[in-house]
Amino acid sequence: MEKKEQLYEGKAKKVFATQDPALLIVQYKDDATAFNGLKKGTIAGKGVINNQMSNRLMKMLEAEGIPTHLVEELSQRETLVRRVQIVPLEVIVRNIAAGSFAKRYGVEEGTVFDQPTIEFSYKNDALGDPLCNAYHAEALKLATEAELAAIRDYAFRINALLKKFWRECGVTLVDFKLEFGRLPDGTIVLADEISPDTCRLWDSKTGEKLDKDRFRRDLGGVEEAYAEIMQRLNARLGAQA
Ligand code: TMP
Repeated sequence: MEKKEQLYEGKAKKVFATQDPALLIVQYKDDATAFNGLKKGTIAGKGVINNQMSNRLMKMLEAEGIPTHLVEELSQRETLVRRVQIVPLEVIVRNIAAGSFAKRYGVEEGTVFDQPTIEFSYKNDALGDPLCNAYHAEALKLATEAELAAIRDYAFRINALLKKFWRECGVTLVDFKLEFGRLPDGTIVLADEISPDTCRLWDSKTGEKLDKDRFRRDLGGVEEAYAEIMQRLNARLGAQA
């Protein structure tokens, strides 16, 4: 598949056109940002890890009946995906209180919920991705009621599948962020990425953070944590998918 003009550059990825208007190439960068771009840095090797991890997890989800944008991995940092219209919502599923939830509601990080929670934020950098409920999302015409129902259903199913997968790797899935897109016929599919940038992953035994919080919170050992979590996934799936 031929890489054509760059269509978009985000904080962690670039997106390129291909000769097929229905397909795009995503290229993962080592750039890392936090706090809506206020903090900037590089995590060496992150692009390779996020590309491979996201693809392996999406493949697993596809096999379990979750439609995704994934077509095929092209190289260490590049993946061919279906072109979708992104639903401008960050869909966050949480099993354990952490991050903005712990701060907003004054609960201790690590508090385990009886059942998973979901929340949306409106993907809008200028506004700082404000929290928004399903009624707000409909009022803002970000998604229809039926789309929101599908997204909610997929998000909880994905949580159950990922939680089980990571448990088998000795890792606790604390929370994560998903993005969904619409195919030309309106079908909702999982898009964007699933990686240590977009998930909180804690070692099940020690509670050690194996995700981007090491960068956000200046905990050190960032590259080592990304390498460790990839190694756990590879050990679980076999080194080459
Ligand atoms: P939060 O606790 O900061 O709201 O983050 C919840 C989850 O969403 C966490 O796993 C990190 C992920 N996340 C992103 O992927 N992108 C973002 O811009 C933010 C704020 C969080």
